[in-house]
Amino acid sequence: MTSEPMTQPETYPKTDETRKGKEAVIRIRDLYKSFGPVQVLRGFNLTLYERENLVVMGKSGSGKSVMIKCLVGLMDPDSGYVEVLGQEISGLGRQQLDQLRSDIGFLFQGSALYDSMTVRENLEFPLRRHREKLGNPKDTLPLVEEALENVGLAHAIDMMPAELSGGMKRRIALARTLILKPRVILYDEPTSGLDPITAKEIIGLMRRIQQKYGTASLIITHDVDCARVVSERILLLVDGVNYAEGSYAELAGNADPKVEAFFKK
Ligand SMILES: Nc1ncnc2c1ncn2[C@@H]1O[C@H](COP(=O)(O)OP(=O)(O)OP(=O)(O)O)[C@@H](O)[C@H]1O
Ligand SMILES: [Mg+2]
Repeated sequence: MTSEPMTQPETYPKTDETRKGKEAVIRIRDLYKSFGPVQVLRGFNLTLYERENLVVMGKSGSGKSVMIKCLVGLMDPDSGYVEVLGQEISGLGRQQLDQLRSDIGFLFQGSALYDSMTVRENLEFPLRRHREKLGNPKDTLPLVEEALENVGLAHAIDMMPAELSGGMKRRIALARTLILKPRVILYDEPTSGLDPITAKEIIGLMRRIQQKYGTASLIITHDVDCARVVSERILLLVDGVNYAEGSYAELAGNADPKVEAFFKK
């Protein structure tokens, strides 16, 4: 039915040292998703282990955002198995899905802040919905302040999104993601549209957050520098399947033309 890629995906997962004794927090098996005649995902597999930074790279339109939407239940796959924090997504009701989402931080492509709300209100928004997760705190201000301090923007608490630069918006969006202390963070193109210096700041924050909170992160990017700095493991999504997988050094030294294409500057 589907044509096979030129190189078979490598046996999955390959880099054993990143997963010794660690539990999987995300499992995707044999994921298929088409839109009309366009087969976007054609048997995609992925495992993310606790405290791991896994980067997924793929060309524009290769299905990275589709994959991430299937992970959080924003989109239904045609077939395949998707499990997050031990729960199979397709079996969850609305309420269970909502509860699970409080453990998953999702930094959307773009920052997706509410333009009519201040920074503080933007950060309080997820708190209102998932207050019980944090033990129903009477005062949420300390939580907002802590999240803003994590991204170095404590002073921006009363600003409106329109008053923020692109890099600041991204950091606020990251703070909003962090406020519920998620166990897994999904980053969709965290550095796109940012200048290289601001992108570096965001990359530094991503690393610090992982070290501070021990979160597992799935990072979708086509920014080679971002992949090099943050990844313990990189997975290349080509033609709807995992085409290759390895550390940055392993993949950057791979002579396969489809792999090389990702790392050419
Ligand atoms: N809701 C939808 N309806 C129809 N087609 C869609 C829908 N969402 C995505 N697609 C198609 O699926 C394919 C993959 O889209 P996706 O957004 O996952 O790409 P991507 O890898 O995230 O690209 P980029 O790097 O540009 O963000 C594209 O061909 C897109 O047009
Ligand atoms: Mg995308």
